[in-house]
Amino acid sequence: MQGLTELLFRRVYEECFPGAIRLAVTPFLSLTHNLHNLLNDKSQSTTLRHYLRDVLPEANVGSIPITPQILGKEPEEFIALGNRLYDMGYSEVNWNIGCPMRNITGKHRGSGILPYPEEVRAVLDAVMPELKPQLSVKMRIGLRQKEEIFQLVPVLNDYPLASVTIHPRLGRQQYTGVPDMETFGQVLPLIKHPVIYNGDIRTVADIKQIKEMYPKVSDFMVGRWILYTPTLPLGKIDMKLTKQFIGRLMEEIRRTAPTQESALRKTKEYWCMLWRALPISEAEARKVLREQELTAVDKMIYTFIQ
Ligand SMILES: Cc1cc2nc3c(=O)[nH]c(=O)nc-3n(C[C@H](O)[C@H](O)[C@H](O)COP(=O)(O)O)c2cc1C
Repeated sequence: MQGLTELLFRRVYEECFPGAIRLAVTPFLSLTHNLHNLLNDKSQSTTLRHYLRDVLPEANVGSIPITPQILGKEPEEFIALGNRLYDMGYSEVNWNIGCPMRNITGKHRGSGILPYPEEVRAVLDAVMPELKPQLSVKMRIGLRQKEEIFQLVPVLNDYPLASVTIHPRLGRQQYTGVPDMETFGQVLPLIKHPVIYNGDIRTVADIKQIKEMYPKVSDFMVGRWILYTPTLPLGKIDMKLTKQFIGRLMEEIRRTAPTQESALRKTKEYWCMLWRALPISEAEARKVLREQELTAVDKMIYTFIQ
């Protein structure tokens, strides 16, 4: 998740809960116009390192194992980035065709490509023969209507994908409503690849229930609830471990942020989600967000996690 499950989070998470998460798909690396030059031009190595900073293998040692994710549909850039990631040691990359953000979908990227199966085919036709790593896909059931996924599945079935992760909401829903399990159940038997379920998993019991209803599901991906309930993979709510984790995350933000302002911004980004993991009210949580001084924010958060 952009800005959240980045390297800093993954490192602290692995330190606090070793082995609890088997694999994380990274926040997406967006294909950019000059990416080709960036990947080939040695004089740009600092910019390239910055672009790839979240997936640099040496920085990820001791952290949660990852599959890097790519957002975009420009074949040349896709191949160049995918193959660079392969050379860095990644045997699989994930293609994001599920992102619902309007500035992205308008350009037929993320879930914006879902209504256009022939565009998906064109990308896969161009990319797959040249791509060294395996490709998996992460998607929603459509941008505007659920019928889109039924048009898309025959296209996806024509390519040797490693897996298909489905979040059964529409792009236009963003995060509102509930996952459309009926459509998920209808589409599941039509997909020839391993299917990973993603959406509103709040507890291990949710995983068990979905597995019972849909035995064909091969794996599960947790999103927002890894922040709302960090001990979710342990199968229980453990407040002591949750507080320790939040404390370590705050320490690492302060240790690594280049300025006080960026530390404050990052803290608030996490706090928007993480406060739900604690036994506090929304009104209390909002006080932290209104505060402008890092030391005051620290003081408030440390009171909550003592
Ligand atoms: C702030 C935010 C950023 C996200 N960034 C990404 C991303 O970079 N790549 C991706 O595949 N999904 C991203 N997602 C979507 C989640 O991975 C997941 O598919 C979605 O939240 C549904 O799962 P959940 O109900 O378990 O949260 C993001 C979600 C949020 C809330």
